[in-house]
Amino acid sequence: MRTAVCPGSFDPVTNGHLDVFVRAAAMADEVIVGVLINHTKAGLFTIEERIEILREVVAPYPNIRVDSFHGLLVDYCRDQGVTAIVKGLRAISDFDYELQMAQMNYRLAGVETVFITTNPLYSFLSSSLVKEVAKFGGDVEGLVPDAVLMRLRAKLSDTMGA
Ligand code: PNS
Repeated sequence: MRTAVCPGSFDPVTNGHLDVFVRAAAMADEVIVGVLINHTKAGLFTIEERIEILREVVAPYPNIRVDSFHGLLVDYCRDQGVTAIVKGLRAISDFDYELQMAQMNYRLAGVETVFITTNPLYSFLSSSLVKEVAKFGGDVEGLVPDAVLMRLRAKLSDTMGA
């Protein structure tokens, strides 16, 4: 059984992330979408909300499941029997940091990282840009799953009203 993990903050998940999950699921027996629990960084969505959204979004894919982790990713990989970390690479600007993390994870525990080149449709996309555009009333339809769109509108109208 080959299990891959797609780790991240997913605050919120975008269609670029989803594209990577689905392509990873075509190569592995099982894909775990691993949401990092980071208590020092407050997000727009709580960890529970991110997990709920992700579960809704990956529901059509039987070999993708959602989980959360804290601490080192390599420890989570060992505990879950993960054989590869799968990440999306959008542009050369992602490369330096991703290379550093991939090499550190290999050095720490011999865990391989596999990069999937992001679909050009989504190469400009990031969770933070989606939040910024949405916050100022820009249209992010088609860039995030519908499950995110709904909650983003609700969340931002609460925030703006507060
Ligand atoms: O979506 P993000 O925030 O860019 O994802 C970053 C993530 C979660 C993949 C990375 O920060 C991570 O793996 N964190 C877990 C802690 C860890 O293992 N750090 C050492 C990385 S070499």
